[in-house]
Amino acid sequence: MSDEPLVLGIETSCDETGVGIVRGHTLLADQIASSVEQHARFGGVVPEVASRAHLEAIVPTMRRALDEAKVTLNDIDAIAVTAGPGLAGALLVGVAAAKGYALAADKPIYGVNHLAAHVAVDTLEHGPLPEPAVAMLVSGGHSSLLLVDDLTAGVTPLGATIDDAAGEAFDKVARLLGLGFPGGPVIDRLAREGDRGAISFPRGLTAPKDFAKHRFDFSFSGLKTAVARWVEARERSGEPVPAADVAASFQDAVCDVLTAKALDACREHGVETLIIGGGVAANSRLRLLAEERAAKFGIRVRVPRPQLCTDNGAMVAALGSHLVAAGIAPSRLDLPADSAMALTSIAVAG
Ligand code: KG4
Ligand code: ZN
Repeated sequence: MSDEPLVLGIETSCDETGVGIVRGHTLLADQIASSVEQHARFGGVVPEVASRAHLEAIVPTMRRALDEAKVTLNDIDAIAVTAGPGLAGALLVGVAAAKGYALAADKPIYGVNHLAAHVAVDTLEHGPLPEPAVAMLVSGGHSSLLLVDDLTAGVTPLGATIDDAAGEAFDKVARLLGLGFPGGPVIDRLAREGDRGAISFPRGLTAPKDFAKHRFDFSFSGLKTAVARWVEARERSGEPVPAADVAASFQDAVCDVLTAKALDACREHGVETLIIGGGVAANSRLRLLAEERAAKFGIRVRVPRPQLCTDNGAMVAALGSHLVAAGIAPSRLDLPADSAMALTSIAVAG
């Protein structure tokens, strides 16, 4: 029997109820119940609907995870739970459940940062994190570049979006093309049939004048508006909208900016590893472009498989395992859910 810690992770920050179990860096279970279909007709996640869905899903998802890992709650060494950032009501369900399990089974509890968990999950696929590294987190709620010196101690934010998150831009553009929600996967698929050079869309915050203040920041709101104007103009002129070309050109604009800025950050900080996480890291064009461009600079790109990029419990367990191994003290049992948890806080202090 391995002496590495057996850690259970609970994730409920948005619309996925996730429970994952890891031993050290080995993934033993990854169970997810998603409420995404209940939000589809609204074109975005409805917080109250998400909270209720978590309430219904948490106990069965927990059971499935324990079954999948063939362990009992008593075997677990520590419970990790997303304490923030995320939707307040949704976070509360996971935190309350984690406290209940921790109290019932007398286990230590770690309230952890969702974004740091998106970075830590890569250890399940590619082993220990090389530090320092640059991490790019691109999801429906966040787009950030971080310098990771020591994931257990905190990360240094280098830049972030000043308006929409990258995933939000995918969702909004998919909506205006009538493609459904969430937008990322549909645009990714449709873009394969389109010409990414067909339309020249703007690359936010990449002009020389933006360099001083926003070198590592992103902006996707102007791009989304440019796509909307282009589609409207087409519709007004009575011509058909070439949805695949729009999807491919939009996707390329996003991926061009993301990869250029992430690699610029690596070179500026003398870092040889770029880790990409969050739902948008599942994007096939982003993965390819990052690899291609990084190879030219001798930078290694680490991206977990798509299933681990979107929200899941395994990522929370992976970060918990990292904290346990580093000897970090657990959080207190009365730890709060913090919808605006800062990136500089990796775990709620004990
Ligand atoms: O990390 P995640 O599951 O949840 C948040 O924490 O937000 O990310 C969800 C986001 C959505 O905006 C979705 O459209 C986007 O990730 N996404 C993608 C792809 N798969 C999911 N975006 C681009 N390409 C994809 N293949
Ligand atoms: Zn996420």
